Parts: sequence; structure tokens; C-alpha cells
Amino acid sequence: MKIIDLRSDTFTQPSNEMRAAIAAAPLGDDVFDEDPTVNALQEKAAGLLGKEKALLVSSGTMGNLVSILAHCERGSEIIVGNQSHTFYYEAGGVSVYGGIHSRQLTNREDGTLALAELRAAIRPHDIHFPVTRLICLENTHNRCFGTPLSPDYLQAVADIARKHRLKLHIDGARIFNAAVALGLPVNDLTGMADSVTFCLSKGLAAPVGSVICGDADFIRRARRIRKSLGGGMRQAGIIAAGGLYALENGVAQIRKDHDHARHLAEELSKLPGIQLNLQKVSTNIVYFDVDTKRISPLQLVQHMAERGVRFFDTGGTRLRLVTHAGITAADISKAIEAFKAVLN
Ligand SMILES: Cc1ncc(COP(=O)(O)O)c(C=O)c1O
Repeated sequence: MKIIDLRSDTFTQPSNEMRAAIAAAPLGDDVFDEDPTVNALQEKAAGLLGKEKALLVSSGTMGNLVSILAHCERGSEIIVGNQSHTFYYEAGGVSVYGGIHSRQLTNREDGTLALAELRAAIRPHDIHFPVTRLICLENTHNRCFGTPLSPDYLQAVADIARKHRLKLHIDGARIFNAAVALGLPVNDLTGMADSVTFCLSKGLAAPVGSVICGDADFIRRARRIRKSLGGGMRQAGIIAAGGLYALENGVAQIRKDHDHARHLAEELSKLPGIQLNLQKVSTNIVYFDVDTKRISPLQLVQHMAERGVRFFDTGGTRLRLVTHAGITAADISKAIEAFKAVLN
């Protein structure tokens, strides 16, 4: 039985073509800047996002950590959403390794932070306060229904940042999903930010890696910090090759992933005991709630796993499904049949 794995878009396997590109990649020592495949990936990424330079890192978590450390000194403060990956799921790295204080604002359901709250959270000059340095946004927003943030919203936040001499970092782990959902070139979503990280190993379906993009001076600082964290990798072209292949060939898959998520959500929303707001489904992430009088989240996860469909419950009554390159239209039909069998 094929397992239909909807736990995350991190569960993709490289295609045969991607494996061939990895096998054929020319390599060098990237700590010495001599890996041609890493250099090609970095150039490609910087070009796509409209930034001067880029830097390959091992993961999205490392990309956010390195970026924040490159913007902030010890004792300074970042403004982040309380549902953001950086605040929620990154083991408090910015505090652990950077001595950086985080000010959490409540994410609205569309992943945004209210602009008035943002303005109010910026610290005035006073020796009692940490110094605000950075605003962090997430696009698409994982815990907020995978919602893409619009260029207008991003620009409004960037304007506030500029006015107060703050930097803006975007955790764009799924920025290509945002670009596809909004029908925009990705640089429309990145031009206003000082730094952006995106992941090769999610919607782009490469096995490992993330890329930080920014201006040349920022990337120079980020490169040193990456080294100090043990993230200077040698023949990293093995990793970069999958990412480069994905950037050249993988973006079309994301449209399919969104269509699959939509179809799955539409069918699921018709089933008894499911609460699912279709208006919130716009990328590859589908959140829904179950009526616990009919079935508990854990029971649903277990019954579906017995039928070969895997996904996570994310706390309370809520569960999450994520589509990706490893999921076909036929898999979606099978998953829908399995949901019907369990819930009807
Ligand atoms: C929005 C977001 N940012 C960052 C990350 C971290 O990526 P990684 O798992 O590569 O550290 C994730 C992972 O799921 C994510 O969803």
C-alpha cells in the first residue's frame, strides 16, 4: 500500500531527474567559495528574488537564525508573530545563540500583524528598554492556514520599518507558494525586505537546504555567522544541485499542489463532523477542525493511517494536511475516499 503522506511538504523524495542533476553536479569547497554548483544556486536565487547576493544554509531554521543574528546585536529586540515559525518552532534559537529578545504580536488569521500594533510595539529610546532592530514576517504563513501575504501589506510593513530605521526579514520558507497563489513574480514579494529566506526542501521538493538573500554586506555578515554556527559545508554542491534543479524545473509543480489542496478541502468540507473554511485555503496547506462528539483528532489520524493516509493534528480540535510533489491527483482521490469511509 502506498502511503499518502500529507504530514508536510518536507516529506518529498527527489525525482529521478533531480537525482541525476545531483549526481552530475560539479563540486568544490564552498567554505572557500569554490563550489560552482553552490555559486550557481546562489546567483540564481539572488536573481529571482531581486537581491544582490544569496547564501546556502542547511535549513529554514538556520536561515532565520543566521539572518536575525546578522541584523541584531545581543540585547536588541525583534518583533515577531506569536504563530510564526521563528517564535513557535525554532527552539528559541535567537535567544539561545543571539541573546536577542523577542516581542510577540498576535498573528491575525491571515498571518498578518496589525499595523497599529506593530507601530505601538516599536520601543522608544529609553534605557529601560531593549532596542528594537527587526520586524519578522512569514510568507506563506504556516500556522495561519498557509496564507500568502500581499505585496501591499508587505510594503506597508516595510514603510514602517524604514521610518523607524528597522530592518525587515521575511521567512519565505514557502515564498514560491505565495507567488504562485497570488499570480506574481516572486520578487514582487521580496523587493521591500532587507532579507528573505526560502526553503529548497518544501514546495520546491529538493532534499535539503534553504537560501538567504539580501544585499552584499548583509550576506558577508551572514556568511561569517553561518561559519560560527558550524554551517560552513564543503562540497555542498551535492545539496545545491537539487535546489538549482528545483528552481529551474520545480515551480510548475506548486500550482498542482495548490489545486490538489483545494480539491481535497472542497470534498472534506462536505463530510459530517468536519469544519473547514474554504476561503482560507489558498496554497498547499489545509487546516480543518473536527467535531469531537463524533471523533477525536487522534482517532481520525489513527483511522486514516490504517487506510494509508498520514497527517498531523496540530492541537485542540485542529488538524493539518499538506500537499506536495509526492502527492498525485489519484492520491488525493484515494485520501478523499478514505475520509468518507471513516467519517460517514
Ligand atoms: C514557515 C517556516 N519557516 C521555517 C521553517 C523551518 O525549516 P526547516 O525545517 O528547514 O528548519 C519551516 C518548516 O516547516 C516553516 O514552515
